Amino acid sequence: MKNLYQPLVRPLLFSLDAETAHHFTIASLRRLSHFGPALRALKRFTPPSKPKTLFGLTFRNPIGLAAGLDKNGVALPAWEALGFGFIEIGTVTAVAQPGNPKPRIFRLPQQQALINRLGFNNDGADAVAKRLRRVRETGRWPAVPVGINIGKSRTTPLEHATNDYLYSFRLLRDFADYVTLNVSSPNTPGLRELQEPAALSRLLHAIGSEPGPVAKPLIVKISPDLSLVELEAVLAVCEENGVAAIIATNTTLDHSLIPSELDEKGGLSGAPLREKSTALVRDIAANSKIPVIASGGICDAESAREKFDAGAKLAQLYTGFIFRGPALLREIMEKL
Ligand SMILES: Cc1cc2nc3c(=O)[nH]c(=O)nc-3n(C[C@H](O)[C@H](O)[C@H](O)COP(=O)(O)O)c2cc1C
Repeated sequence: MKNLYQPLVRPLLFSLDAETAHHFTIASLRRLSHFGPALRALKRFTPPSKPKTLFGLTFRNPIGLAAGLDKNGVALPAWEALGFGFIEIGTVTAVAQPGNPKPRIFRLPQQQALINRLGFNNDGADAVAKRLRRVRETGRWPAVPVGINIGKSRTTPLEHATNDYLYSFRLLRDFADYVTLNVSSPNTPGLRELQEPAALSRLLHAIGSEPGPVAKPLIVKISPDLSLVELEAVLAVCEENGVAAIIATNTTLDHSLIPSELDEKGGLSGAPLREKSTALVRDIAANSKIPVIASGGICDAESAREKFDAGAKLAQLYTGFIFRGPALLREIMEKL
């Protein structure tokens, strides 16, 4: 099918402010998710499958949807139809929350980048669990793995973070093929302190020893702004606690690669994050046996290949998908 995203859809979306465009897209994909013929049309974008097995799960292909695009899990069938090899929803927090004041997403088209300071706007774990139950009961659950990314509610003090994560974990784990602990968003004050060894160890131990019918693979999503020493400490704690994989990385607070007149407060993603994020993938692969899921600056087939060459086993898209649309997936899969 002819790719209409860049010539037609993107100009329309980019004529709207970034958050309005986001809501419009998600609302459209949510509607399509209920409509068989539309899903079949979307499936024309699906690249041929290239299965990959990791931590006991089979991924249809190694390219997944990164957390944040579908925070509330409203469009699972559409993401599958677009061809993602796995889908990560969230970040979901225990308490529903509105996030930071708008505007809070900024496009930098020349730089193929976004800056966001959303601050975990989401419907909360109870509402998301209810929605996921409905998707399952109505037979619309996707055939590709679904990861659920959880984080700390803003109103919960850092010292009670573990209980906050546990609340979401208990409600959502049954729906998740894997659970990601997000300890690296820069937009929730104090969150990244949960990457410190003692705090991370407490969190992983509490979640890991939670009784349940089936143990779910636990994944930790880390910041690209960790020093090598900090990274090594994170890896040691993850190894001790049997973490299934590490997502490297979240957005960065290092804005040195973008012009100062375009700068905004928040996490930077897209092309300017690419190298920093790849360097972390390489450092993890060199220092640990924990598999890496790469996220950060994948905007074309070459930047995807770079992640796998650096040692990643899977990869996820966000900003590149906003700029390139569904054709990006096919391009990556054809050239991998
Ligand atoms: C608007 C926006 C919202 C995001 N929200 C989340 C989130 O809720 N949870 C999370 O773990 N990562 C979130 N991220 C980070 C992405 O999942 C991804 O790790 C990061 O943007 C780097 O990948 P990219 O360069 O391909 O965008 C968000 C990113 C953007 C741009």
